[in-house]
Amino acid sequence: MADGSLWDRPDIFDPTRFLDKARDRIDRYAYLPFGAGPRGCIGSVFALQEATIVVATIIRSFELQVPPGHTVWPVHRVTLRPQGGLPMMVRSRDRPG
Ligand code: HEM
Repeated sequence: MADGSLWDRPDIFDPTRFLDKARDRIDRYAYLPFGAGPRGCIGSVFALQEATIVVATIIRSFELQVPPGHTVWPVHRVTLRPQGGLPMMVRSRDRPG
């Protein structure tokens, strides 16, 4: 159960909470994937740019689906990660089936 004092519906996967004006309402210290302050990550801009390009490149050619019956559950181990890994079914967008 996540902290409801900082986020609306904190347990719901809702990327739109980071979009446009919604982003302005997020407290600077509520979400710290790259830390903060004078020792904050110097690679954050590069990492975000790289991740965007990697995801866009993969999604253009492949459709990814979590296998039926698998539940994705977050665990905190220094960084956040999916419990038991993240098995995926990968289908080429070029070839049906
Ligand atoms: C998704 C990718 C990344 C994540 C989640 C991440 C996260 C972090 C975090 C949490 C810290 C500690 C910040 C703190 O103590 O407040 C950190 C520090 C640091 N990161 Fe990253 N990082 C990422 C990618 C990168 C990349 C690509 C580079 C270099 C090109 C990089 C270079 C550094 C360096 C040098 C520090 C130490 C800064 C210091 O102590 O002054 N990181 N990172």
